[in-house]
Amino acid sequence: MTSVKQNSELLPVRRGGPGSIFDYPGYFRVASRGRRFGRFIKMRFSYSVFVLAALVLIYFAPCGFKASFHVTQEAQQGSSNVVKPPDCKSNLLVLSNVILIDHILFLLLVLCYPSCKIDFLESVNDLVEPKDFTDFRNFTKFSLEYIDKEYVSFGTNMYKPRFGGHQTLQEREESFYAKNHTLHCGFVNAPGFSSTGFDLDEKDKKFMSTCKIVVYSAIFGSFDFLRKPAKNKISDFSLENICFVLFVDENSLSTLSSEGNNPDDRGYIDVWRIVIVGNLPFDNMPKNPKVAKFLGHRLFPSARYSIWIDMKVRLEADPMLMIERFLWKTRSEYAISNHYVRYCLWEEVARNVFLKKVTATAANEQLKAYQSDGLTKFDPSNPNNLLPSYNPESCLIIRAHTPMSNLYSCVWFNEVVRFTNRDQLSYAYAYVKLRRMNPNSPFYLHMFKDCERRTMAKPLGHRLPHAVVQ
Ligand SMILES: *[C@@H]1O[C@H](CO)[C@@H](O)[C@H](O)[C@H]1NC(C)=O
Ligand SMILES: *[C@@H]1O[C@H](CO)[C@@H](O)[C@H](O)[C@H]1NC(C)=O
Repeated sequence: MTSVKQNSELLPVRRGGPGSIFDYPGYFRVASRGRRFGRFIKMRFSYSVFVLAALVLIYFAPCGFKASFHVTQEAQQGSSNVVKPPDCKSNLLVLSNVILIDHILFLLLVLCYPSCKIDFLESVNDLVEPKDFTDFRNFTKFSLEYIDKEYVSFGTNMYKPRFGGHQTLQEREESFYAKNHTLHCGFVNAPGFSSTGFDLDEKDKKFMSTCKIVVYSAIFGSFDFLRKPAKNKISDFSLENICFVLFVDENSLSTLSSEGNNPDDRGYIDVWRIVIVGNLPFDNMPKNPKVAKFLGHRLFPSARYSIWIDMKVRLEADPMLMIERFLWKTRSEYAISNHYVRYCLWEEVARNVFLKKVTATAANEQLKAYQSDGLTKFDPSNPNNLLPSYNPESCLIIRAHTPMSNLYSCVWFNEVVRFTNRDQLSYAYAYVKLRRMNPNSPFYLHMFKDCERRTMAKPLGHRLPHAVVQ
């Protein structure tokens, strides 16, 4: 985190009432106290204040841990069942093996809110799409097709159609090859059975097929508030040329309506074109938005670029300038940010279990599968690392819809379908395996800094406080 800008904004004050939460469900109360504190002292926190505070906290960590042990004992036991190898420690966590410290760090980070200045172009008038992107000149070229039907032999009355299909381990293995082939990538139906879900209106599909550049998001199960992009930061050019699409289910739409956010005659709320999704494919609710998040290339078949943005954040930068800065300028097909502090996958898992976002059993099963397929712990000192971190913050994904980017999105999605809904857990595995299986086919993925992510996508938290265990 170089060039850290002092940010004059204190914590956003939510008007969502008592149900609102901060980013991490267990920490709502601490967070809201922090908010009042923030308003009270009315000073600008700088990054150095944050570092100082973090060091002080780490220094006092052992006492803090003891004091709070009884409160968190149960949760701690939960996480100690998990994963073995925390001899990989990230940056500031070196001195602590305590997730609690990480929570405090997170809180501090949010309070201090380091965001960094991004060297965007001055204006969208100067944009020129590089040749690489118009003809994929320097990107791996191949053509992908997607399995849309599964045929079932008669007599298999155990068969239940699934949105993700029934991918065998062999098919999963082959799906990683960067070559012309047909693979599982959601939207699998079985003739003779009803739809496997994510049903869209023909009118919406027609609209979606016209989009060339898309900014999109989803709210299912009323999990998030509606976040309106900061229009003063978005150019007229982007507002006119980009499809802003928000997928919602009927229930979420009623919740939005009850809060006064009703679609207008053309189906828009603010800049968002509302697209209603019927028949959500997964009983495991958090998996449903992943369909949109990862399968943008399937939902918007003519789109050449897409930006996925979670509704827990607000778009605060011009999407065209984001594409220029993070794809064109870096010659990347896929851009995603680092996690704010952790790069170690096993730490991330421990935290997810602690927060009850996933069960220890499910997380263990997933990690064991990955370990046995060669995923090792992240070693920050290894110069040959394929990634700068194994832990992304995936609330903002900027993509060119190139073959490699589409393939990666499919295989990552398939991991989320097969295992837990926490996509951080499969990010590195899917990427490293893709690279390993295709040593001669480059894939240009760029991980940018979390503080940059925060400049473009400001964290505001989810609506629902419930932790989600699968
Ligand atoms: C793209 O590939 C061409 C050769 O095929 C090469 O001359 C050029 O420098 C490459 N451009 C970039 C940006 O890598
Ligand atoms: C892959 O598909 C593309 C487009 O369909 C085609 O032009 C190309 O020849 C195919 N490559 C191979 C190796 O079959």
